[in-house]
Amino acid sequence: MKKAIYPGSFDPLTLGHMDIIERSSKIVDELVIGVLNNSAKSSLFSLEERVTMIKEMTHYIPNVTVGSFDGLLVDYMKEIDATIIIRGLRAVTDFEYELQIAQTNHVENPNVETVFLTTSLQYSYLSSTIVKEFASHGGDISKFVPAVFINRIYERYGITQSKK
Ligand code: PNS
Repeated sequence: MKKAIYPGSFDPLTLGHMDIIERSSKIVDELVIGVLNNSAKSSLFSLEERVTMIKEMTHYIPNVTVGSFDGLLVDYMKEIDATIIIRGLRAVTDFEYELQIAQTNHVENPNVETVFLTTSLQYSYLSSTIVKEFASHGGDISKFVPAVFINRIYERYGITQSKK
């Protein structure tokens, strides 16, 4: 059984994340989306909200579940008995950071392997940070996030559809 984790902040989940989830769920037996509870960083959506939003979007994929963790990823992976980390690579700018994390995790636990999926071209520019920046100024985020999240994100910035 190949059990993998796709870790991240997912604040919020984007169409780029969904693309990685759909594609990676086809190459592993079980995929856990691991939402990071980073109390040091203020987030747009609470941990519970992020978990609920991801569950809402992934319920149709039978081998995907959603969990959350704080502390080290490798410790959480031991807890849930996962050995594969899935990460999306957008551009060369992601590479250095991702390489460092992948190598550190492998040193911490040699059974852990990181598998990188290159993002689909249409999402190669996309990040949760870009979504928040755009949304905070009332920009059109319909090409960036699942449709059901659009208003929930604008609401966080006090923007209603009518003001747009
Ligand atoms: O997509 P993100 O939000 O940049 O995800 C970063 C994440 C969650 C993969 C990374 O920050 C992480 O694994 N954090 C938990 C602490 C840890 O184990 N760090 C890696 C070793 S330095």
